Amino acid sequence: MKLSGKKILIGVTGGIAAYKIPILIRNLIKEGAEVQVIMTPDAHGFVTPLTLSTLSGRPVLTDFFDKKNGTWNSHVDLALWADLMLIAPATANTLAKMNHGMADNLLLAVYLSARCRVVVAPTMDLDMMAHVATQQNIAQLAASGVLIIPAEKGFLASGLTGEGRMPEPETLSEYIIHYFNHKSILAGTSWIVTAGPTFEAIDPIRYIGNHSSGKMGIAIADALAIRGAHVTLIAGPSSVLHKQPTIRREDITSAEEMLEAVEKHFAESDGLIMAAAVADYKPLQAHTKKIKKSETTFTIKLTANTDILARMGQLKQKQLLIGFALETHDAIKHAEEKLHKKNLDAIVLNSLQDAGAGFGYDTNQITIISKQQSPVTFPLKSKTEVAEDIVSFAENLFHT
Ligand code: PMT
Repeated sequence: MKLSGKKILIGVTGGIAAYKIPILIRNLIKEGAEVQVIMTPDAHGFVTPLTLSTLSGRPVLTDFFDKKNGTWNSHVDLALWADLMLIAPATANTLAKMNHGMADNLLLAVYLSARCRVVVAPTMDLDMMAHVATQQNIAQLAASGVLIIPAEKGFLASGLTGEGRMPEPETLSEYIIHYFNHKSILAGTSWIVTAGPTFEAIDPIRYIGNHSSGKMGIAIADALAIRGAHVTLIAGPSSVLHKQPTIRREDITSAEEMLEAVEKHFAESDGLIMAAAVADYKPLQAHTKKIKKSETTFTIKLTANTDILARMGQLKQKQLLIGFALETHDAIKHAEEKLHKKNLDAIVLNSLQDAGAGFGYDTNQITIISKQQSPVTFPLKSKTEVAEDIVSFAENLFHT
């Protein structure tokens, strides 16, 4: 049994796809899970609590207070009990309330108290699904660490055809089994992460560089490795050490060396995250001997480095490509241009106008822009937490 001893909370909200939940519960129980169902009041119209309590072997809960027995259902105890909480089907209304921290029913109060991973299966008619408000709510929930099981396309209860169907119970139970057995969908996948600055030699003594410390990229490499990914970290000159022993680190100096290293590993990788601050230009000619001071002014002719991300954007096949954008003005506009021009799946924007963001700090403040979703802005956090957010985002992109 693949779910032996696992405690799973299933939240059922008021959508027609609730008719699939009895089969899901039966599948989970057969695999050895303990299942507790919480329904919103409207869900009762779509599937009976009697059916769900019979299959789960536990009373189905909806209200804070059990008036008959004079007791109450503690949302905190329920939340702490669970190893995983799945909300399926998750209506537009429940997703909106989750995103805004509302707790006007037992299910939402349990969600707000949950310490375990929460998974949602957004399910609704295609126009509600496509609405910008719904898309923003889903994007913000994903950004806060909620895992999203994407809706499927097909025939909908309204008679329309499009995106909005809840996946079949077998797909949901497989997802849960996969979650407990592999934890992260990224486990076993191969990633390249770049970090730090590049130094472009002027002569053997001097170089053109930048202020990147390497902290951001190295935190991302650690976060990926913690989730079981194979990580090749290609780091420019940086004194920051990675923490995860499974990481393979290649230290390089110049943009050209970084390009070479990325190219070497790209074909067999599943994704590339470029957090490095790569020099756009290098001296046309690097002198082999120290340049002697003679004149009062001195000119260095520069030539453009290859844009590594753009090159990988041309070569990419299965790979997920996530770039960074470091901006000082018109940040979203410039980041979106880079997203499309370099053929990326997502771009992480950090702006030097935001206090505590960018070079050197232990903190960062990011907005992630992707092709699929509206931009998601995160609060200022430690770079370790920011790395977790980026990797969770990558995880969600990997599912779709
Ligand atoms: O290292 P820290 O001190 O922790 O600071 C982190 C950081 C500020 C360096 C990091 O968060 C960041 O923003 N990295 C990208 C900086 C940058 O070069 O941005 P850009 O907008 O110039 O480049 C856009 C993207 O293209 C980046 O992903 C960059 O890696 C990539 N690029 C740029 C030039 C080039 N020749 N090749 C590239 O691949």
